[in-house]
Amino acid sequence: MTHSARKPLVAGNWKMHKTVAESVALAHAVAEARVGPRTEVVLAPVFTALGPVAAALRGTNFGVAGQDCHWEPQGAYTGAIAPEMLRDVGCTHCIVGHSERRQYFGETDAGVHRKIVALGRVKLVPIACLGETLAERESGATFSVLSRQLDGMFGSLDAEGADALAANLVVAYEPVWAIGTGRTAKSSDAQLAHAFLRDRLRDRLGDVAERIRILYGGSVKADNAAELMAQPDIDGVLVGGASLDAAGFSRIIQAAGSS
Ligand code: 13P
Repeated sequence: MTHSARKPLVAGNWKMHKTVAESVALAHAVAEARVGPRTEVVLAPVFTALGPVAAALRGTNFGVAGQDCHWEPQGAYTGAIAPEMLRDVGCTHCIVGHSERRQYFGETDAGVHRKIVALGRVKLVPIACLGETLAERESGATFSVLSRQLDGMFGSLDAEGADALAANLVVAYEPVWAIGTGRTAKSSDAQLAHAFLRDRLRDRLGDVAERIRILYGGSVKADNAAELMAQPDIDGVLVGGASLDAAGFSRIIQAAGSS
């Protein structure tokens, strides 16, 4: 399968920003964007705004994502939200393993694995994040770190489990040093990492790897999105700061339409 056979996906991770009313207003503004016929767009507001944003987007093709979930369907897990509950309020996707969850909340690859499986059970699309820190990059450990993270996150998925998930699996490469720093990875470096990830996914899961979309994230802006998405293994972008501005995010969506 070629790059062009995978539908580009543009996801906006709003992180811990915006009230419900502000989120709904932003969703309405983004929904005005001209979206290429093959481009998918997903918005990830805070938990309290998920239901209202999903309602505001009803009738559009835009998806809505949680920013995290638990792996159990219910139980005594104060503060947590189950995949079923995300689906209940209209979510279609869920981000898991974001580096901020890893850094501030103790997220592990093993936990991400359980979340991916739990999301697959209720047919929500996992957007599974990974990426190296600056220290790891500078010590030449980027590829071994990515390998270790992939093994932990997808380790015990067998080919059959992967097949059930894969049409519906999204991986997001987000080098930690590029997140919120204005320091985007060079498109050629990002492509190297993406090609490496696809090779490793192919080793582990077989041909299904060709269908898995791999997004780039880390200081994506309207003026660098097109070049990133033109790379053969970059199938879309996961955007933080620049997704909070409807006009800029709309330009990123348009860049995907031309990739
Ligand atoms: P920025 O686009 O703000 O660098 O954030 C990237 C990110 O973490 C998206 O999940």
